[in-house]
Amino acid sequence: MERLIRKAVIPCAGLGTRFLPATKAQPKEMLPVFDRPAIQYIIEEALSARIDNIVLVTGRGKQAIENHFDKSFELEHYLKQKKQFRLLKNVENISDLTDIFYIRQKEPLGLGHAINCTRNYISNEPFAVFLADDLIYSSQPAISQLIEVYNKYQGAVLAVEEVSKEFISQYGVIKPKQIGDGVYIVEDIIEKPAAAAAPSNLGVVGRYILVPEIFNLLPKVKKGQNGEIQLTDAIRLLAKKMPVYAVKIKGKRYDTGDKLGYMKASIEYALRDKEIGAKLKNYITKL
Ligand code: UTP
Repeated sequence: MERLIRKAVIPCAGLGTRFLPATKAQPKEMLPVFDRPAIQYIIEEALSARIDNIVLVTGRGKQAIENHFDKSFELEHYLKQKKQFRLLKNVENISDLTDIFYIRQKEPLGLGHAINCTRNYISNEPFAVFLADDLIYSSQPAISQLIEVYNKYQGAVLAVEEVSKEFISQYGVIKPKQIGDGVYIVEDIIEKPAAAAAPSNLGVVGRYILVPEIFNLLPKVKKGQNGEIQLTDAIRLLAKKMPVYAVKIKGKRYDTGDKLGYMKASIEYALRDKEIGAKLKNYITKL
């Protein structure tokens, strides 16, 4: 029987060390990419796939995320008085997006651990995972591309993209068996392999459909690289028990947790904007 993907987990409890000092006192998910915080694009992607049961895993110092999606009475009152109705609508729209649930990860023990914190919320159904660092600009929302594969095969699905040899050691890398156009069975998966040991050039990027069986496996995973509980290790165990799939994402991905990736995203999202895109292009060309 087909099961709908109704719930999403967005882990946001990482420390963002690659982006220090910007992330010393503010969550990296709140850094603006052009005109809105990175996390807002992610929530919008989930909603565009009609996933409106959203849980964010947060940690200390992440309150700004909750405030962003909450009502802001003082600001709304001020904008009303000043008759700045366009801005008012914009601000109101954010808190109206959806209800968001928050779970605290008390210590940043890794992505796998963060996901395991949501086990009672997710309970016994398949769910989507979004890593807020990865913005994917595409005509079909990236998560919908995974849901299509999930609907066909009814198993966990990972988003992958081709990665050059130079960078492959920064990714979880799959050993793929192709079963369709850009669709694979994951025969194995290795976290951050040396380039020579990488089983393919297909690296996992920040979108997943996971099945509840993952919650039986996460507690079995031992601390891996950096002393963290890796989601990759649990997926590896899952792939031994049941088919796990991967799909090559159609779209452009930006790693906004990395300084260069962040700048590329900010510039390109601004270049696509109707109001300032052409002016920015003109400015950059002159530079
Ligand atoms: P990353 O390793 O990319 O994020 O984790 P980080 O730890 O915040 O970043 P750097 O490397 O120090 O700059 C991938 C995702 O998993 C979440 C992060 O918030 C990010 O979305 N995460 C990571 C957690 O929620 N908890 C953790 O303990 C670790």
